[in-house]
Amino acid sequence: MQPVVELKDVDVAFGSIHVLEDITLTVEEKDFLGLLGPNGAGKTTLLKVVAGLLRPYHGTVKLFGEDIAKSTLRSKIMIGYVPQRITLQSQNFPTTVYEIVATGRISRENTFKRLTEEDHQKIEDALRFVGLYELKSRMAGELSGGQLQRIFIARALAGEPSLLIMDEPTSGIDIGSQVAFHSLLDRLNKEQGLTIMMTSHDIGAMSHMCTKVACVNKKLFFHGLTEDLFRGDILSKVYGYHVHPIFHEEHLM
Ligand SMILES: Nc1ncnc2c1ncn2[C@@H]1O[C@H](COP(=O)(O)OP(=O)(O)OP(=O)(O)O)[C@@H](O)[C@H]1O
Ligand SMILES: [Mg+2]
Repeated sequence: MQPVVELKDVDVAFGSIHVLEDITLTVEEKDFLGLLGPNGAGKTTLLKVVAGLLRPYHGTVKLFGEDIAKSTLRSKIMIGYVPQRITLQSQNFPTTVYEIVATGRISRENTFKRLTEEDHQKIEDALRFVGLYELKSRMAGELSGGQLQRIFIARALAGEPSLLIMDEPTSGIDIGSQVAFHSLLDRLNKEQGLTIMMTSHDIGAMSHMCTKVACVNKKLFFHGLTEDLFRGDILSKVYGYHVHPIFHEEHLM
């Protein structure tokens, strides 16, 4: 099977500061990959490289077998990307929730596309999926941070992505909604076979949800099955100090 993402020897720098070094990582179809690492480790940078928003100065990035430096925009359109911090500049942002999610149906090739019946259906399905259908007519500027985050997840889903990339999607979401959100991601991954890459600082939640984990801190310290994350002292190496995981009952079953 064709891998969804293939990074080979990827190096990224901002000016003279090297942020990622020698990253070689493959994401297979139907993987649910959790990206772990401390603040400033390069997680967001890595996701931006995969989404085609940042270009590495060395190495290759392939999506669905196509080198993104050489390919047309086609492969990028299959990616749903939810950025880390979503803020709208103004409380009076003149756009409804529905309109934001609708932009997920508009491709870069066809910016002024007229929305079809199918498009409207996908937009409504995505809004229901994140549990915010009732807010569809509200102005986006009136929403809370967590609601806005879910709206942008709906926007990504409305585009029917083959790869969903989410940067700390649960950081602004309350505990109750997080449980629902986790089961939503589980359904997307297991039932619909969607390939997912996400970051989070919640190692416990990640180890429950993700099938695979990658630990990054400038370099790739670990990439493998989630159950192998707690063997040895991988976490201590990535975080730079001793990490002692405490297992709850569910982990021991
Ligand atoms: N546009 C930029 N210009 C200069 N430096 C940048 C830029 N973007 C990121 N960096 C730097 O690159 C490093 C990695 O940043 P990145 O945002 O990828 O970290 P992260 O792992 O996502 O951290 P966090 O957990 O805090 O979100 C940081 O030191 C950051 O300051
Ligand atoms: Mg980040």
